[in-house]
Amino acid sequence: MTQPIELKVNIPQKQAYSYDILIGQNILPQANEIISRYTSAQKFLIVTNETIAKLYMGSLDIKNSLWLILKDGEEYKNFENYKLILDTAAENFFERNDCIIAFGGGVIGDIAGFAAATYMRGCDFIQIPTTLLAQVDSSVGGKVAINSEYGKNLTGAFYQPKLVLSDISVLKTLSLRQLKTGLSEVLKYAFIEKSCNCPLNYRFFDFLKQNKQEIMDLNPVVISKLINICCTLKAAVVNQDETEKGMRAILNLGHTYAHAIENLTDYTVYTHGEAVAAGIKMAFKLALNRGLVGKEYYDSSLDLIDEYDITPALSDFDKEKFYDEMFLDKKAKNGRIRFVVPNGYGSVVLISDASKTQVLESIC
Ligand SMILES: NC(=O)c1ccc[n+]([C@@H]2O[C@H](COP(=O)([O-])OP(=O)(O)OC[C@H]3O[C@@H](n4cnc5c(N)ncnc54)[C@H](O)[C@@H]3O)[C@@H](O)[C@H]2O)c1
Ligand SMILES: [Zn+2]
Repeated sequence: MTQPIELKVNIPQKQAYSYDILIGQNILPQANEIISRYTSAQKFLIVTNETIAKLYMGSLDIKNSLWLILKDGEEYKNFENYKLILDTAAENFFERNDCIIAFGGGVIGDIAGFAAATYMRGCDFIQIPTTLLAQVDSSVGGKVAINSEYGKNLTGAFYQPKLVLSDISVLKTLSLRQLKTGLSEVLKYAFIEKSCNCPLNYRFFDFLKQNKQEIMDLNPVVISKLINICCTLKAAVVNQDETEKGMRAILNLGHTYAHAIENLTDYTVYTHGEAVAAGIKMAFKLALNRGLVGKEYYDSSLDLIDEYDITPALSDFDKEKFYDEMFLDKKAKNGRIRFVVPNGYGSVVLISDASKTQVLESIC
């Protein structure tokens, strides 16, 4: 067992509100003791799904807890299940200082977090993320939401947990496809590292290049370090801009394209990570065409993405339709599409003056 890594997220706007992220191997069995240090809750509602419950219900033993096991899938991040979480808490006389625990991937984290944000105007909330994507991305930063028939994540809030507890041991049961979808968000941090204004310099690009095999093999030391770096960088960004008024947008590298890919294929063909990896490549193409990055950095970045073998062959999209789809993205402000594009090693910039021709050329 490796020693758990502890890092702190501080939200300055909230009078130094902070919470810990604990990353370790085989720490689920200690969860009861660890959690009791972070909340005075008398009761716990553990929200999970059928897949995770089957694999890990026996490993998580929290006192005075009850389990709510949802069906597995993005389509269940909906209003009915949100209501079910709230009703279960109410029927069991949960009070404001009792605690909802999200035990699962990003879907469970988002829906359980939104329920926690709104139950009695906010009860205690703890994340135990079980996918790589959730451990490096969705469990940090406090965005919680559910989908509606009008769009993804349309109803939500910013709500920070009391603790994020990441046990890397659970990653071994992820499918290769799910592991890679998380790696795509991981790669994103290699390209935005400098723009995160984090005082630590990880040279994360080189780390990912040098440790590919260890990462794919889930080497505990390397994976713990990787999760630590991603969470630290994300925390640095969130600390500067909790509610996405400005620089938090850099976390959307590749996402303007990715959302169009996901929408055009009804979320049924590609995972989010696959769409993001393809989107990052397109953002690089746009940057190259505008002279923001040199050919050398462009090539080495695309090589890095390709080494992890994440981007699938994309369907033959109608480029005009693709372009129109990007306007629907919530990031299209005042009729202009905003892109986060690379402009140097580990650095990105926000642009909103890309011409239609430039954008069409970048769709590949
Ligand atoms: N809040 C945020 O900041 C944020 C950021 C990124 C994504 N998201 C949201 O996260 C969701 C995607 O998250 P995700 O990729 O974790 O998907 P997910 O939660 O659907 O999990 C993917 C699959 O892996 C299974 N699974 C989870 N843990 C497992 C384990 N340890 N072993 C085996 N199987 C396991 C799940 O049951 C599911 O089938 C989307 O809804 C997205 O909108 C939120
Ligand atoms: Zn994403």
